[in-house]
Amino acid sequence: MRNPVPVITVDGPSGVGKGTLCQWLALRLGWHLLDSGALYRLTALAALHRGLALTDEAAVAAVAAALDVAFLPGVDEMRILLDGAEVGAVLRSETTGDAASRVAVLPAVRAALLQRQRDFRRPPGLIADGRDMGTVVFPEAGLKLFLTASAAERAQRRYKQLIEKGMDANLAGLAEEIAARDARDAQRTVAPLRPAADAELLDTTGMPIARVCDWALTLAARRLSIPVIP
Ligand code: DC
Repeated sequence: MRNPVPVITVDGPSGVGKGTLCQWLALRLGWHLLDSGALYRLTALAALHRGLALTDEAAVAAVAAALDVAFLPGVDEMRILLDGAEVGAVLRSETTGDAASRVAVLPAVRAALLQRQRDFRRPPGLIADGRDMGTVVFPEAGLKLFLTASAAERAQRRYKQLIEKGMDANLAGLAEEIAARDARDAQRTVAPLRPAADAELLDTTGMPIARVCDWALTLAARRLSIPVIP
């Protein structure tokens, strides 16, 4: 039976503004939010905590299937608990992002996380942020967005984000890490980063986030017949 709960998928590489757009849309529409990257990051962290090699597909997939996580509303951001303990800045670090991208190439890990991601689809609707939301996880979504931006601008945005969070960052190193991570995400055999055939594409290079949000909301109103006040 067709699932009546509407979904908007937002895919694209790191640093394109997906996170900001998705949080804004979820708040604006009063919908749930799936940060699928966080699930891959949490899987990588849990595997590292257990001393596993990130290439051990069966063991990492077992960790993904049994992941003990809680997403709780916080003041600025969601509070995320792994095995009952709050995971702070370490979850958002580039090291964890890199580890996440490594476990994300493993088909058994992706399969283990599939249903968990689909379970986020609850009324009145879901904003799904990731790499394969429109192609694999919610292929029947009513609206699929795919954001891009130049590599230089994405590195710059990521740098700003990390500095604002009080974390260490080096722009040149970051640009290299982002390029390596994007190449891995785009070239893997399962669920590679690519727009769905029916996705709406937007190059956000040089674009203020407010315009990106406007673009998305206009499309949502038109395609999903959501009554939104401009
Ligand atoms: O969006 P993010 O930076 O938190 O994602 C971390 C890594 O997880 C990213 O490099 C690739 C992987 N990922 C994925 O393979 N599929 C998703 N739907 C989301 C993230």
